[in-house]
Amino acid sequence: MNVAVIGTGYVGLVTGACFSEFGVQVVCVDKDADKIAALRRGQMPIYEPGLEDLVGRNVREGRLSFSSDTAEAVQNALVVFIAVGTPAAVDGSTDLTFIEAVAREIGRCFDGYKVVVTKSTVPVGTGKKVRRWIQEELDIKGSSARFSVASNPEFLREGAAIGDFMRPDRVVIGTDEGDEQALAIMKDLYRPLFLNETPFVIANVATAELSKYAANAFLATKISFINEMSILCERVGGDVQGVARAMGLDKRIGSKFLHAGPGYGGSCFPKDTLSAAHFARELGVDFEIVEATIRANKRQRDHVTQKIRAALGGSVAGKTISFLGLSFKPETDDVRDSPAIEIARNLVEDGATIRAFDPQAMAEAGEVIPQLVLCKDAYEACEGGDALVIATEWNQFRMLDLPRVKEKLAEALMIDLRNIYRADALTAAGFEYVSVGR
Ligand code: UGA
Repeated sequence: MNVAVIGTGYVGLVTGACFSEFGVQVVCVDKDADKIAALRRGQMPIYEPGLEDLVGRNVREGRLSFSSDTAEAVQNALVVFIAVGTPAAVDGSTDLTFIEAVAREIGRCFDGYKVVVTKSTVPVGTGKKVRRWIQEELDIKGSSARFSVASNPEFLREGAAIGDFMRPDRVVIGTDEGDEQALAIMKDLYRPLFLNETPFVIANVATAELSKYAANAFLATKISFINEMSILCERVGGDVQGVARAMGLDKRIGSKFLHAGPGYGGSCFPKDTLSAAHFARELGVDFEIVEATIRANKRQRDHVTQKIRAALGGSVAGKTISFLGLSFKPETDDVRDSPAIEIARNLVEDGATIRAFDPQAMAEAGEVIPQLVLCKDAYEACEGGDALVIATEWNQFRMLDLPRVKEKLAEALMIDLRNIYRADALTAAGFEYVSVGR
């Protein structure tokens, strides 16, 4: 089977590489010729564990290629995935400009049957629009070509995307009711997972589109819930990790996504919660839970920033802060909507000097906050710091050489926004220790 994946961002590239690993022929397409040239040289545009090897192997074995020629890729493919960006507009709605442009381009360049699948996270109803945009282009050229539209949302976590694709909790496929041909083709494409007994949710297009928002909004709600609980714990001397453990052992709740911290970030939860609230409002529905989740997340970022100010005597002006972790979570260089970045920016605006280190996201962070003093490792960042802030829980920050850190810092104060240390261990090592909800 031939597959074309349009858009070689995070989702498109991982999807294309993983399908080629299943044994199908994949062309990943992007308008950005420089990006395609770099990919052909084996250079990845993002840091994702395992991706470079996966791409390299499948290119060498002739199943994966890269192209800027959308028309040729679409003509040769039976299944065309749309995996272009869906940025948030200022009002929280989803900007479908790139989806429309690609759908129309697809419509202009085929004449045989295709299944056109949205992989990008798109508001409910987008499948219908994609169908209309393609049909309009076919009508303009007088073509009677047939096509199906499907929705196959991705549930990939950055940093763990390849494992999530190869061993997913479930695969969701939405097709028009009665469209047996599209469903059979999609099942065939996912045959290795079918044989693995991965659960498949077969639904209509709207259900598939909504299921992605439902999952992300629910996970974001879990995080905002435990973050609010952490503020209550701080008021009464409770320990949010104990509360989370007690909750999580209830199998109906589950222990995942109950880590209190500086709030959720990244390119998905903030955008998808806003988008879900927005399209619900447009449909005349108040999605009250998700609205509260968004507000609580904003408040949590402010709350931990205030915690840093308070630990430094009420103001950070003129202070030096050693700052570890800039990406929105470990194992990625992605700083989009990273709580660490927002907090660092607030501190810079307050007049602090930030000595920062992140294992992968230095260049990206330096671009968005040019005032950061970028250090070569955690210990260099600690030099002369009035406090050490841990903002992202990279593994290497879990095992810092505490005597060395203490020696470098001007003040032995650690503000651990990810709760990766134990209070008693830090106190024993001579630190003043501040964490979240404990
Ligand atoms: C998320 C979902 O987990 C994926 O299933 C989904 O496919 C993806 O969005 C997407 O829509 O494409 P991702 O954004 O890569 O994946 O990262 P997560 O691991 O979910 O973390 C998101 C944020 O929540 C991070 O800022 C993380 O630090 C925060 N988080 C997560 C917490 O604060 N506490 C937790 O317990 C878990």
